[in-house]
Amino acid sequence: MCGIVGYTGPQDAVPILLEGLRDLEYRGYDSAGVAFMSRDGAFSIIKRAGKISRLEEALAGNQRDASSAGIGHTRWATHGKPTDLNAHPHTGANNRVVVVHNGIVENYAELRRELTSNGVSFSSETDTETIAHLVEQAMEDGHDLTSALRAAARRLEGSQAIVAMSAAEPGVLAAARLGNAGGVVIGTGDGENFVASDLAAVLPHTQRVLFLADRQFARVSPGEVRVTDADGDPVDARPKNVPIDPMSALKGQYPHFMLKEIMEQPAALSDTIQSLVTVEPPEIRLDDLGPAAGRLADVERVVLIGMGTSLHAAMLGRYFVERYAGVPAEADNASEFRYRGPVIDERTLVVSVSQSGETVDVLEAMNVASQQGCLQITICNTEGGQTTRVADGTVYTRAGLERGVASTKCFTASLVALYALAMKLGEAKGRLASGEIRAGIETLVRVPEDVAELLRGEDSLGRAARELSQAQNMLFLGRGLAYPVAMEGALKMKEVSYIHAEGYAAGEMKHGPIALIAPGFPSVVIATRNALRQKIIANIEQLQARGGRVLALISEGDAEIRTLADDSFELPNVEDAMEPLMAAVILQCLAYRVAIIRGCDVDQPRNLAKTVTVE
Ligand code: M6R
Repeated sequence: MCGIVGYTGPQDAVPILLEGLRDLEYRGYDSAGVAFMSRDGAFSIIKRAGKISRLEEALAGNQRDASSAGIGHTRWATHGKPTDLNAHPHTGANNRVVVVHNGIVENYAELRRELTSNGVSFSSETDTETIAHLVEQAMEDGHDLTSALRAAARRLEGSQAIVAMSAAEPGVLAAARLGNAGGVVIGTGDGENFVASDLAAVLPHTQRVLFLADRQFARVSPGEVRVTDADGDPVDARPKNVPIDPMSALKGQYPHFMLKEIMEQPAALSDTIQSLVTVEPPEIRLDDLGPAAGRLADVERVVLIGMGTSLHAAMLGRYFVERYAGVPAEADNASEFRYRGPVIDERTLVVSVSQSGETVDVLEAMNVASQQGCLQITICNTEGGQTTRVADGTVYTRAGLERGVASTKCFTASLVALYALAMKLGEAKGRLASGEIRAGIETLVRVPEDVAELLRGEDSLGRAARELSQAQNMLFLGRGLAYPVAMEGALKMKEVSYIHAEGYAAGEMKHGPIALIAPGFPSVVIATRNALRQKIIANIEQLQARGGRVLALISEGDAEIRTLADDSFELPNVEDAMEPLMAAVILQCLAYRVAIIRGCDVDQPRNLAKTVTVE
């Protein structure tokens, strides 16, 4: 969950590290630090609890020569509170090795006991410090930095990404990926190279990148990147071009990434849809399905997995699969699926949804599916993300980098990708006629303009946002396709505004949640044309009969619900399959507005990190 950045080359490393840390702050933001090496091999470490601005202040007051290499880290605490001492980088006992780390050393207590009994004293409460000591000891035993990291890695249990630097090898960074606790991206430049946990920190410098796979190690110097496996044997890992515009990673005219990413949904959806289908001839392309494409006709069951917002996308994907492919489908929380001993086999298609492609529970669930011989497709927004390496095929969303911790554009992009995948499966199963495929494609290509139109009118949410910002609790209700959107609306609201919000299938109300309704209790109800409208009208009446207040999302021109509800917002009349997407966009806007009124930090909500790479 932490962010890692490293640089080696002719430029001064510190400004590059700071820029990288700002680009990665969404991964963790409770403390930050850098270690940088002067050209004679001496290194300095500066680290601070708190946001990166505190580290910047500390660095501003520090006299230093230009540095030739360095590593930096932004932390999401797992072991030890966010303090200056627990911030990364961490050093070995003799200050010869410095390390940054993402993940958890599961056997750190045992390693710490062993090291302590051998006379090593620890200066932090972190698991990471054990790595620094182990690498340093291996170097003292004669290993070079990369082989020392390899030796240390053999002692570590759990998944991690590590970057290390040593005074004994000026200008060299050693990196390792062990398991699924997060990626290691190496950006290759001209006489300089970059290492990071995430593309966001590399793309401003180079679009030529390579990703380390599980148990791969890299020795990165200014002129060379050498990748090896766990035995030290060379791996032929070549950089490839990542076609993401680095400018898209900037906030531009917007005060927050979340708002920018909400507003750029028309473009994100348009880019994604263009990559999925052609209108003439009407074809669902899905070019990255690879060998999975030829196996779709044999699929007898689909299990869609994800976490958080991506799980809500998976839940909607389930409806699409059942409707367009006629195949039994279910959606499951990846963290439950992985431990449940799910009954799946080679006729089961497992579809994982993950914008980052790095969420640890999703990757572990995919491993379970691989062991059972399932066909796997991942819906992913990150070129080269780990899910794309594990799956047999990928459907990429082309939403561009998403930096807001609250996922917005990647949710809607995942929905259109799932819709296209469900149609492709329906086509492979002989369930959809060519006219139905043409109609489905026409539905998709209208979406970006409808979303653009919707966003042009979102400012009329102002009054509802002001009222909701006073609430301590609220419910989000929906039926059918609107049920997962109600869950997503509640998640968005709680993660950015800190208001307690729950999403329910509206039919569940009478089975308990209605006990919460007292005069003034607010509910947001998705009451569009195709979301079992008559049933939802009954739910609204039941809420109001108990004094509850209802904000209804309705289809354009629905005077009946407009009159009935306390407040309403009209969504465009679109194909029923796209109604949830429209509702989701408005619920994103609502959550953003409420959070801003309440003065919350929408891009970096407390306790969260963009990518969850530890359990
Ligand atoms: O990268 P992923 O899509 O796998 O991430 C899954 C969740 O961690 C993510 O959607 C999370 O729920 C967001 N903060 C929601 O806005």
